[in-house]
Amino acid sequence: MTTDTIRPDLTGTLGEVSAKVEAAMHADLDQSLAGSDDLLREVVSYALFGGGKRIRPFLCVQASRCCGRDDATLYTLAAAIEYLHTATLMHDDVVDHAPLRRGRQTTAKRYSLEDAILAGDWLHTRSLYMVGKLTGVDGLDTFCAATAAMVNGEFVQKRLSGDCRATEEEYFGVIKQKTGNLIASACALGAVYAGAKPAQKEALQQYGQQIGLAFQIVDDLLDYTAREEQTGKEVGNDFKEGKVTLPLIRALAKADVRERDSMARLMQGDRTKPEAQEAIFAAIDRLGGFKSAAETAQKHIDQAMQTLDRLAAEPISNNETVALLRELAGFILVRKK
Ligand code: IPE
Ligand code: IPE
Ligand code: MG
Ligand code: MG
Repeated sequence: MTTDTIRPDLTGTLGEVSAKVEAAMHADLDQSLAGSDDLLREVVSYALFGGGKRIRPFLCVQASRCCGRDDATLYTLAAAIEYLHTATLMHDDVVDHAPLRRGRQTTAKRYSLEDAILAGDWLHTRSLYMVGKLTGVDGLDTFCAATAAMVNGEFVQKRLSGDCRATEEEYFGVIKQKTGNLIASACALGAVYAGAKPAQKEALQQYGQQIGLAFQIVDDLLDYTAREEQTGKEVGNDFKEGKVTLPLIRALAKADVRERDSMARLMQGDRTKPEAQEAIFAAIDRLGGFKSAAETAQKHIDQAMQTLDRLAAEPISNNETVALLRELAGFILVRKK
């Protein structure tokens, strides 16, 4: 067997990196929250240590390793990215009226709306402080741009809520802003931290953007097709909230006038009714919306793989890490949670 045929151990490496990132989080919190209110410490811990795949910190670590740097502080930087991600989830669950996250009550449900907002703010600000300290203005530039875009993406999504005229272009604008940019910036920050060559940073960032788009398309598919026990989130929440996601957009594009009207009525009616949820699911399925969205997720993963070919061609890239990034891209397509 040649080394090319040995598949890197994604699960094992993800587990190892997560353990180091969690240790870095504990070390940071012990110091940064020392003397803070007990409830603030409790809420922050509840949000951070209740599961989570740790994909963004993993990407930051792999991007830095790929460009030749791996040291203890890298895991603190990766922890900062998970802080921001977690803060956005706490706030996102408020915005989406979501009851469940990572297999248990959202922070807002378990504690209170106020606690989720305030503890999210704390994580947000701590994250930016750490990223600034570890990567300087360069890192802060991409990280803050991603965060600002995420908020804008949420506003656009809210504006399009319940509107079956929402276009595919608008959908892609939203998912790039709310998800793609942060995943891309996790890669970019690792590259900046390692002092990567511009071509390496660019390739890693593009890889992140493509897997980020696929990640959100798959998330939107799972919101219709998965079970709550798998995702740890309430299934069907997107329809309830009126989000017009890719499976629906693709189904609407295939629908005749009568079908479009009936889907628009479902979207504008009482979306909490199980009959409405079953009817929209059946319509999307019948019109091939799930299949078509899954094919598009695959296309973005293919593009991410092409970017990795470019990265592997850089003489100073660590190709073992590139192989892991390929595995991660593949995992995003088949993930069930
Ligand atoms: C959830 O992200 C938010 C989206 C962008 C869909 P993850 O699925 O990575 O959430 P955790 O961190 O694993 O819980
Ligand atoms: C991504 O969108 C959320 C963020 C950008 C924080 P979703 O609203 O689909 O994410 P989930 O499904 O709640 O994790
Ligand atoms: Mg949500
Ligand atoms: Mg979702």
